[in-house]
Amino acid sequence: MSAEFPSVRPRRLRSTPAMRRLVAETRLHPAELVLPVFVREGITEPKPITSMPGVVQHTRDTLRRAAVEAVEAGVGGLMLFGVPEVQDATGTEGTNPEGILQLAIRDVVSEVGDQVVVMSDLCLDEYTDHGHCGVLAADGSVDNDATLERYAEMAVVQADAGVHLVGPSGMMDGQVAVIRRALDAAGHQDTGILAYTAKYASAFFGPFREAVGSSLKGDRKTYQQDPANARESLRELAQDVAEGADLVMVKPAMSYLDVLRQIADASPVPVSAYQVSGEYAMVEAAAANGWIDRERTILETLTSIRRAGAEQILTYWAVEAAGMLR
Ligand code: PBG
Repeated sequence: MSAEFPSVRPRRLRSTPAMRRLVAETRLHPAELVLPVFVREGITEPKPITSMPGVVQHTRDTLRRAAVEAVEAGVGGLMLFGVPEVQDATGTEGTNPEGILQLAIRDVVSEVGDQVVVMSDLCLDEYTDHGHCGVLAADGSVDNDATLERYAEMAVVQADAGVHLVGPSGMMDGQVAVIRRALDAAGHQDTGILAYTAKYASAFFGPFREAVGSSLKGDRKTYQQDPANARESLRELAQDVAEGADLVMVKPAMSYLDVLRQIADASPVPVSAYQVSGEYAMVEAAAANGWIDRERTILETLTSIRRAGAEQILTYWAVEAAGMLR
């Protein structure tokens, strides 16, 4: 054989569907997908979110049904976000035992809590009239330690409502420790913490602001991480694990796959990734224009996030993707 023909031929392992299936390194399974859901107080019909085609703000009733549907699809978890009617400076509704998120947790836990992991967002931005993830100091800056006290109270009311994992997403220093201590002191030793460990000040959260009716002016750059930095994610990881995080998360996902890989290599606890609203909107918009193949793109994004090291993926396509994987 002439010397220019290769003796090493990687194409052999790509030659047929059966061969490709046999050698695939990364597999997706519905059980590792988590569906984020929004429930809004005071509505009687689900309300579509314009910038997230196919996603709605649920009523308590339709949320129950969506939870059942997700369980039937084999999804592993649900992440609940509450959208209250009233917002104020300190996010009072976030700690109201009868607040919308607490009611929704009770609904979903009683409906499907024995078949799926129920999680809740633990953050103030859905509840504050200024839209920040914490309470403000007199000079208008976000007050870290005053916010921690609010988070501790939120953790307890969410755990009282029966949630399995709380998801602190506000990026306050020390939030995991304060929440762990508050949960333990209230007898909620078995309620876990899914820590938003590496969370970036990202433009990809844009559609989420509509989803939760957030009135934020300005940005979150004094508490969420700078997209320019990877190293501090490892510091956040070490801190969250030391403070008692049961799982850690990277967010957004697709623009941060390098961070995800570094955290996956270093973490002693399971690593999740959140494919956020802007990632969803981007793919949906391109697909609606006929510019990309929607289903192939969805599965490719999820596979890439998995390949980069995520063991759980929060995605608005969780139910649909679970269907595709069957
Ligand atoms: C904060 C929170 C946000 C998201 C999840 N939790 C918004 C933010 O930090 O600005 C974004 C989720 C998404 O974009 O899909 N409560």
